[in-house]
Amino acid sequence: MSTITAQVELTEAELKLLQALVYQECGMHFDERRTHFLQDRLLRRLRECRLDSFYSYYRLLISEEGRGELALLLENLTVNETSFFRNKSQLDLFQKHVLEDLLHRKQERRDYSLRFWSAGCSTGQEAYTMAMQVVDGLAYYYLRNPLPYDTPLPKPLIPPPWKVEILASDISYSVLRAGQEGIYNENQMAGVDYSYRLRYFDKVGDRYAIKKTLKELVHFDFHNLKTEYLPQHNDVIFCRNVMMYFDEAEQKRLIEKFARCLNPSGYLFVGHAESLLGLTSKFQMVYRDTGTAYQKLEEAQ
Ligand SMILES: C[S@@+](CC[C@H](N)C(=O)[O-])C[C@H]1O[C@@H](n2cnc3c(N)ncnc32)[C@H](O)[C@@H]1O
Repeated sequence: MSTITAQVELTEAELKLLQALVYQECGMHFDERRTHFLQDRLLRRLRECRLDSFYSYYRLLISEEGRGELALLLENLTVNETSFFRNKSQLDLFQKHVLEDLLHRKQERRDYSLRFWSAGCSTGQEAYTMAMQVVDGLAYYYLRNPLPYDTPLPKPLIPPPWKVEILASDISYSVLRAGQEGIYNENQMAGVDYSYRLRYFDKVGDRYAIKKTLKELVHFDFHNLKTEYLPQHNDVIFCRNVMMYFDEAEQKRLIEKFARCLNPSGYLFVGHAESLLGLTSKFQMVYRDTGTAYQKLEEAQ
């Protein structure tokens, strides 16, 4: 079977070559249900590059001078849908159980550092949601367990001696730039209630900008989840609605890598439609109400 797109024909062999290249570069797997989307995006890029065959486009992608085009193609293939406070029950689990557990365990060891990672962060809403929840979670924890000394005034967002780092990473430079900018329109703010808007955003025209103090907690960086060397020493990883674009083999590899990237007894959150069931023995499921997450088992390396 071959597919004709406008005047340029995409043969079955070319499609296979391009599918394999995309998979090898970023782990995204395009099965029959998503082949049409892949073909459409390939055709757009081929036209931009003014090439007359998909094979020439493939040759460009694998060449040294085609590195930039490859990055652009991958960017065009990603689905960047995201929102603030996505999956509320899971976020309740994060704030009321996971964060409490981490604060309790770490304080006992006098380890006052917390590292969170939004892997596949898109335009940043997930990472900023985590930041708001961590700040509120810490404040609430110290309301019930007061610190043995006075905190400096004006009160910092993160009470000393705690140090909070939130890494937000993605494979797409354009979404990373948007996240770094941290300015959202009314539609994007749909899930943000007024108390969060008042405390963590400044109104800029008809849009909302993340306040500087919250923004400083989040650091945006490029990381391709397909690569071996990923950020280490995390207490919590959010990788939601990313693995669903990978096939089972790639999902298994990624979960193994996440196990290595997490501190002992750290937590992994995956999307509502994703699961670790049958893919690993290194995590156990934890849940409250309908919110679920996975905790790394003690002996897992
Ligand atoms: C659907 S969005 C999910 C955003 C957010 N995690 C959420 O659940 O709202 C998926 C994101 O994963 C990113 N992504 C896809 N493959 C990736 C890879 N190999 N490495 C890093 N990011 C990737 C995409 O660029 C996209 O921004």
